[in-house]
Amino acid sequence: MQRYRDKVALVTGGASGIGAAIGARLVAEGASVVLLDIDEVGLGRQQGAETVVADVTDSTQVAGAVAHTVERFGRLDAAFNVAGSARFGTVVDGDEEDWRWTVDLVLRGVYLSTRHEARVMAPGSAIVNISSLNAHVPLYGASSYAAAKAGVEMFTKNAALELGDRGIRVNAILPGLIRTPLTAGFMDGGPIEKDFLTRIVAARAGDPDEIAGPALFLAGEDASYVNGTSLVVDGGWEITNYPDLRPVVNAPAP
Ligand SMILES: NC(=O)c1ccc[n+]([C@@H]2O[C@H](COP(=O)([O-])OP(=O)(O)OC[C@H]3O[C@@H](n4cnc5c(N)ncnc54)[C@H](O)[C@@H]3O)[C@@H](O)[C@H]2O)c1
Repeated sequence: MQRYRDKVALVTGGASGIGAAIGARLVAEGASVVLLDIDEVGLGRQQGAETVVADVTDSTQVAGAVAHTVERFGRLDAAFNVAGSARFGTVVDGDEEDWRWTVDLVLRGVYLSTRHEARVMAPGSAIVNISSLNAHVPLYGASSYAAAKAGVEMFTKNAALELGDRGIRVNAILPGLIRTPLTAGFMDGGPIEKDFLTRIVAARAGDPDEIAGPALFLAGEDASYVNGTSLVVDGGWEITNYPDLRPVVNAPAP
């Protein structure tokens, strides 16, 4: 498919994981792509895209990356705000600076990116923000991350409302457990990998490309009437809150 032929796209957090997968899929589908990240080495590993070293928590740097995209390719049609990370710590004992750092990156980073992207976008353009299932489901020791991701989901709705006047759609994706460097500590034989997987209907972690597909759908013309909403992409994790009733329901009749 070449759905993005003649389109210009910007991906924050494009050096790794989900952002890198979105970038690769955009390149494969014909887009001119700019990847923004703080990780210069990781950016250097990506193929077929322009790269800009920038920090999404720095307004001037984000504006510069957006300006570079427009100078290089003439416009910006689709933006994917993916950059994010977390510093863990409990509400009572965690470090206050870690809490501020995480919210700044996750929530303010998406705000700054959306702000500068929207300023240069023409009607018909679209923005996709990567939130998290943790916008709906709390994560022990990560109140900053979960609260900020919930903020990203609501920010997305608010931005969609305001940017409607400009003809720009804004939607969010809430990924579940996706196999990337961010989740490596939970995966690959770690002590809680099995617990995680029993909670996911698909019984496996997702692949970054399984977020890239829905992201490109939301930013593309097939989603022209989809606006201000969020798509949970979690292999059916959010729906497993009820106990596993299979042993009861499938038990042979007495
Ligand atoms: N992997 C998962 O299971 C999962 C689940 C839900 C949501 N997410 C979200 O998806 C996004 C991507 O995560 P990932 O799993 O691909 O992680 P990742 O660590 O592989 O990629 C994150 C990228 O963001 C970049 N980044 C970090 N701080 C930055 C900054 N200040 N400015 C610019 N770039 C910065 C990193 O350098 C890295 O390249 C994050 O927002 C994450 O919260 C991931």
